[in-house]
Amino acid sequence: MTTGSQPGLRERAAAALTAARARTAVLTDTVTDEDLTAQHSPLMSPLVWDLAHIGNQEELWLLRRVAGRDFMRPEINSLYDAFQHSRSERPNLPLLGPAEARRYAAEVRGRVFDLLEHTPLEGSALLDDGFAFGLIAQHEQQHDETMLITHQLRRGPAVLTAPDPDAPYDPPPAAEALVPGGPFTMGTSTEPWSLDNERPAHTRETAPFWIDAAPVTNGAYLAFIADGGYQDERWWAAAGWEQIRQHGIGAPLFWHREAGQWLRRRFGVTEPVPDTEPVVHVSWYEADAYARWAGRRLPTEAEWEKAARHDPASGRSTRYPWGDADPTPAHANLGQRHLRPARAGSYPAGASPLGVRQLIGDVWEWTASDFLPYPGFRAFPYREYSEVFFGPEHKVLRGGSFAVDPVACRGTFRNWDLPVRRQIFSGFRTARDV
Ligand code: AVJ
Ligand code: FE
Repeated sequence: MTTGSQPGLRERAAAALTAARARTAVLTDTVTDEDLTAQHSPLMSPLVWDLAHIGNQEELWLLRRVAGRDFMRPEINSLYDAFQHSRSERPNLPLLGPAEARRYAAEVRGRVFDLLEHTPLEGSALLDDGFAFGLIAQHEQQHDETMLITHQLRRGPAVLTAPDPDAPYDPPPAAEALVPGGPFTMGTSTEPWSLDNERPAHTRETAPFWIDAAPVTNGAYLAFIADGGYQDERWWAAAGWEQIRQHGIGAPLFWHREAGQWLRRRFGVTEPVPDTEPVVHVSWYEADAYARWAGRRLPTEAEWEKAARHDPASGRSTRYPWGDADPTPAHANLGQRHLRPARAGSYPAGASPLGVRQLIGDVWEWTASDFLPYPGFRAFPYREYSEVFFGPEHKVLRGGSFAVDPVACRGTFRNWDLPVRRQIFSGFRTARDV
């Protein structure tokens, strides 16, 4: 696949890098230097670590591996290697300060733009289709989502603002959709900036199943709470029951009850929990328990992708639920345009052919599945992106949240986390057998 002469490829790569850096600036320029170096939660790095790590990965993959340059500051590499220090230890490292971290990331970026102008975008797996540039733009956007999670965990007055979604709303014609049984194509071998774990395309069979036309709402989730769902061991996986007992969990993260009303804290603002919005900040265990209480189950990862990509008319798998076109604001709530999901039932233009809404954007959706390699998987460009996380301890999330940029979101994109995690922008939808 030598496509170095693809029109606009250089411009697309440059635009993706520039958009990521603009978002990084919003996330790091809206807080004080003290806030940048503080640890807002033991689950997260200080924001200043993410900032320099973004620059360091860009230097490693583009300036060192693609261009063969020497490292600018080899002594800092180990500080920003995610595998050498856990997030909770990072505040104690001799990290670059805010001004130095900004200068370093900007210096790397200047050299990368220079490289992008001159390097051929073909001739090696890293260069074909500008893959390494796309990888780095996605990496920065993924850390931007991580930094947005840190903002959500941060105490204190709001610093980020965004308009509420003005999403087109038109209730789906039915609460659930029937997805036919049979084969479909899962994963991709052709999407140029897809990551190793999305590859290769392969055939999967599913039985027919029903799936929710929209993510589970706060209102529906409140019924589970009101019915004593958190007090009833029948609904819970053993480890989930253990977690909610041990930590006294009785509602999604960031919720509390005051004078008989459920409130939530969202980026520094406390507000009533909105009934019609998809529930967010639930663990896999909470999603799994809700589904069991509702007499349903989480969809498997293959079911989720079939609901999102399978076009029964053509038998083909499309890039997105709505087809092959890149996402626009009419299709999905992506890219931190808003700081919350849009109400369930929004974005009719983003529906799948079977009428399933909001598969892309709004909230990450927990699936029933462990994070495992597809048949024929090959780690690329490094084992630590995906391969070391494969196994039963991580569950797959699909579809992306309001905090995911389109460059890091596709019908094939796979995210994963531990089933106890709830600081992420995680929700879910449910399914059932026919
Ligand atoms: C795919 C979101 C699980 O943030 O740990 C960032 C992405 N990999 N830097 C993560 C990632 C390396 C990754 N997730
Ligand atoms: Fe990273």
